Amino acid sequence: MRQICFLALLGFPLLAHANDPQVDDFGSTQDGTAVEIYTLKSSTGLTAKIMTRGATLVQLHVPDKDGKSEDVILGWDDVAGYESEDNQYFGCSTGRVCNRIALGKFSLEGKEYSLATNNEPNHLHGGAERSLDKVVWKAKGYSNDKGQGVRFTYVSPDGEEGYPGELKITVTYFVPADANRLTISYKATTDKATPVNLTNHAYFNLSGAGSDTVLDHMLQLNADTYTPTDETLIPTGTIDSVEGTPLDFRKIKKIGARIEKLTNTGALGYDHNFVLNPKPNDDSPFNLAAVLRDPASGRTLRISTDQPGIQFYSGNFLKGQKGKSGKTYAHRSAVCLETQHFPDSVNHENFPSTILKPGEEFKSSTQLSFGIIKPKAE
Ligand code: BGC
Repeated sequence: MRQICFLALLGFPLLAHANDPQVDDFGSTQDGTAVEIYTLKSSTGLTAKIMTRGATLVQLHVPDKDGKSEDVILGWDDVAGYESEDNQYFGCSTGRVCNRIALGKFSLEGKEYSLATNNEPNHLHGGAERSLDKVVWKAKGYSNDKGQGVRFTYVSPDGEEGYPGELKITVTYFVPADANRLTISYKATTDKATPVNLTNHAYFNLSGAGSDTVLDHMLQLNADTYTPTDETLIPTGTIDSVEGTPLDFRKIKKIGARIEKLTNTGALGYDHNFVLNPKPNDDSPFNLAAVLRDPASGRTLRISTDQPGIQFYSGNFLKGQKGKSGKTYAHRSAVCLETQHFPDSVNHENFPSTILKPGEEFKSSTQLSFGIIKPKAE
């Protein structure tokens, strides 16, 4: 009944489209708010499940080289898992400002702002209590002749988590009928100037969530440069070449090949923002950001985006927590590839701006395209 739109009230018998996504109850939060989960499917084997808490991607099933589907992202079977201390932003919509803000401080239009320092000594992923991953969003599933989608909306009040302005946010997940692709798009408007940087925080293991480490996964990043950081992972402000460093992924490389060179740094491995090379002059808004391949399962993931950066995090802080179906999420058993603006942009004038002003609309979009490694010709 909920899908009958207001036109029906005016006498038009406009019912939900027959192909609208399935919606199920997914229990409730500790404070008793009901949570729903939407299922989007392609006819080619991809199934995505997204819940209203945190507009979070909970499951993502894609076929391997033998056509066998597996859930390739980390998470839990219930809301309680996501509310637990073990949750390190698994699959969530992350913000208002994803990544770090130095010492939780910034100034904007002559005013100083102070945010939660929930990742000592810095602010991480939008704050401690009411960041976008922790609130329950409104949702509406839809379908059209191209595929199925779900649109999540949330209005973050002025001052929430210390950020200025009432921010109206929409996150849309869309799966085309005929491809193993998930597109995640963001829109936001504000009534006061405010920083905005939105991403999805899925942890991928293309052999299936709960498998061994991702050190044998192969990665390519379309980035000649990156933003070096201090030991607390705050950018120093320079943009350096990846040449001659373990961060050179311009040609596809094993994640594990050089990771040990970074073990004794603040990042404990890969946890860096890469500056994406300029988009080719074509009509598409998307720029290729990353290619991930798992030789074991044959699954591949191509990530394209309109964002200027990508945070490559090799799951160094995973601690062996128990997730879906009791599976263990060991150190470095997943990778996050978070398309976004650069960390701490609000404190670096030379970085692309993250400030959204009244009257403007923030927009961004990222495509996750799954495939299989093509067998070599004999
Ligand atoms: C950060 C990591 C952090 C992880 C989980 C990533 O985006 O770069 O440093 O540990 O999120 O919070």
